Amino acid sequence: MKPKVYIARPISKEVEEYIGEHCDYRKWEGKGKIPQEVLMEELKDVEGVLVQNASVTNELLEQAPKLKVISNSAVGYDSFDLKAMKQHGVLGTHTPFVLDETVADLAFSLVLATARRVPELNNIVKQGKWGKQKDSRQFFGTDVHHATMGIVGMGRIGEKIVRRARLGFEMEVLYNSRTSKPELEEKYGIVYSELDSLLEKSDFVVLIVPLTPETHHLMGEEQFKTMKDSAILINCARGAVVDEKALIEALEKGEIYGAGLDVFEQEPVSPDNPLLQMDQVAVLPHIGSATEKTRAAMLMKAAENLVAGVTTGVPENVVKELQGLLEDEAI
Ligand code: DGY
Repeated sequence: MKPKVYIARPISKEVEEYIGEHCDYRKWEGKGKIPQEVLMEELKDVEGVLVQNASVTNELLEQAPKLKVISNSAVGYDSFDLKAMKQHGVLGTHTPFVLDETVADLAFSLVLATARRVPELNNIVKQGKWGKQKDSRQFFGTDVHHATMGIVGMGRIGEKIVRRARLGFEMEVLYNSRTSKPELEEKYGIVYSELDSLLEKSDFVVLIVPLTPETHHLMGEEQFKTMKDSAILINCARGAVVDEKALIEALEKGEIYGAGLDVFEQEPVSPDNPLLQMDQVAVLPHIGSATEKTRAAMLMKAAENLVAGVTTGVPENVVKELQGLLEDEAI
C-alpha cells in the first residue's frame, strides 16, 4: 500500500504525477491559502504533507498522529515550531540551493530600484509629470557601483549577493554572520564586521538572515540611528527581522534615506501601512524566489523530500535543527 500524503498548496501536473507514483494523495483545491482548520483536519490520517510556509504548531501536530514529514516548499522555515516537531518526532524539510541565485537577483533589483528611484520615477513619467519639475536634479539618485554594501547573514544566498556586488558592481562588501567565512573573504575580498560597524559604514544594508528568536527585530531604533542618513535598507529575509515601527520612524526622521522591502511583519501588508506612502521605499509582495523556473524547481524538490520522507524516512533536505531525528526515523 502506498503511504498517504496531503498536498496543501497548488502544484504543477508534473509534480502531482511524481507524488502520485509513490503515494496516495489528497490535495487542497480551494482558493488562496488553505485555512488552518482545514489543514488540521486533513492531516489526521496522513504520513506526509507538502506546504508552503504553513504554520506548524503543537496543536496541529497533536492532531496528526501518523505524520512523519512536513515538506516546506521554501527555504525559510520560521513557520515551523521546531521544539514541537522534535517532541512529536516529525521531520521538517525545506528547499535550499535551488533558489539562491533567484533571491540574489531580487535583492539586487531592490538595491538598484531604491538607489536609482525606479518605482518613484516610473510613476512620475507615467503620470505625465516629466518636465514639470523645477530642476532635473529632482530625478537624481545614488550610485550602486563602488558603494559599500553591508550584508547581514552570509549563507548560500548571501554568497550569491556578494558575487554580484564584488564582480558586477565593484562594491566594497562588509558582512556580519554567526560565523566568519574565511574562504569567502579570500575568494571575494569581503570583510567580516561587527554589526554596529557594518551599519555605520554601509551605503546599502542587505538583510538575508533566517528569522529566529535571535534575529527577531535585529534592526530596531538603535540600529537605524547607527546607519548613515543616506543609507538604504534592503530586506528580502523575513519581515520580523526588522522592527517595522522603528523603520517607519527612522525614514520619517531622515535617519536613513530609503528602503527596499520584499517582506513585511504582516503579510499581505496592510494598505494602511505608512511605508506604502513613502516615495523612497520600494515594496514587493514577498517574491524573492518567485520566477517560473525557480518555483517549479522548489516544488519538485519539496515533492522529492515528501516522498523520501514517507518512503525511506531519510529525505535530503531536513532542516538542521531536526537532523537529530534522522537516526530514529530511518527505516
Ligand atoms: C523562502 O523560500 O523562504 C521564500 O522567502 C519564500 O517563502
